[in-house]
Amino acid sequence: MSKILVTGGLGFIGSHTVVSLIEAGYQPIIIDNLNNSELRVLSVLEELCEQRLPFYLGDCTKKEDLSRVFEENPEIAGVIHFAAYKAVGESVEKPLMYYHNNVGGLVTLLQVMLEFGINNLVFSSSCTVYGQPEKLPVKEDTPRQKAESPYGNTKMICEDIILDHQKANPNFRSVLLRYFNPIGAHPSAKIGELPLGVPNNLVPFITQTAAGIRECLTVFGDNYKTPDGSAIRDYIHVVDLADAHVNALDYNKKQDLGVDVFNVGTGHGNTVLEVVNCFKEECTDFNYKIGPRRPGDVESVYANTEKINTILGWKPKYSLAEALKHAWKWQLSLKS
Ligand code: WQD
Repeated sequence: MSKILVTGGLGFIGSHTVVSLIEAGYQPIIIDNLNNSELRVLSVLEELCEQRLPFYLGDCTKKEDLSRVFEENPEIAGVIHFAAYKAVGESVEKPLMYYHNNVGGLVTLLQVMLEFGINNLVFSSSCTVYGQPEKLPVKEDTPRQKAESPYGNTKMICEDIILDHQKANPNFRSVLLRYFNPIGAHPSAKIGELPLGVPNNLVPFITQTAAGIRECLTVFGDNYKTPDGSAIRDYIHVVDLADAHVNALDYNKKQDLGVDVFNVGTGHGNTVLEVVNCFKEECTDFNYKIGPRRPGDVESVYANTEKINTILGWKPKYSLAEALKHAWKWQLSLKS
């Protein structure tokens, strides 16, 4: 059974990917520094997967932490690198922390992978690299735009580092997955997103408002050039997103481009108000009001998913309604 190192494996997307890996017959090994995750996720994952999961408390910016994992697991065949900070606003306040962790963590990981001769990497990138695309749905070959935030910039820099590293090391293979907006939770409601403090993202804010933790959702802007005036995004169920990582790992074993990049979205855009109304219909009622636009937000972005559909053979299984129902079920499970 192939062993795969999952950095940040107790986080939102990492934990769902651990489940997808087990289902696909891989043996995940988790490293996480618990900076934005909790150790209890490990026991829940073990329960969900009905097996013990190797776990290392460690930090990807520390070479010794990573080296220990590879020394103790010489059979590791590939790495999925999630460990990174992801709050756009915080990255503006603390840019060095973001560059150190996101860029430094990747560089250290690549150095250790090189040392141990591991050539298969799947990297978490983001649709944020496209900024506001001129043409929608956005394709992978659309030129990237200067990032609005240090967070976005770390994703651009990391993509470039991987490209340069591959040029110097022709045996190295990497897939860059550009995530659109991951939402939802595992249908079992055993794992999901655990936002620290007030959520920045739309769906956790909605579920917390519906649960009475927040008073009212503010819809950031209703004067965009969209059918109802609110901004458009491509919301992808986290379980579908997690599954894409398995396809990417398998593809790396046979691809000879060196580095390849795929959008991971549904290919369909929804406005904020459509998400709000879908949640009200499928889950429960909650309060919302219209407020000003959020600085840095783009008007509309959704994926062209032809490339991932055809080359990776991946298609999402879940609808927006199902994703919202799972997010709500997860929110309710946190209360009990
Ligand atoms: C979605 C839509 C908001 C909250 C960010 C990162 C991106 C990515 C995912 C990182 C927007 C609106 C939100 C609220 C609202 N990767 N909104 N009221 O900004 O598309 O993407 O997260 O992990 O890189 O930039 O996601 O969920 O914050 O917002 O009206 O209280 O919901 O304006 O139109 P975003 P989001």
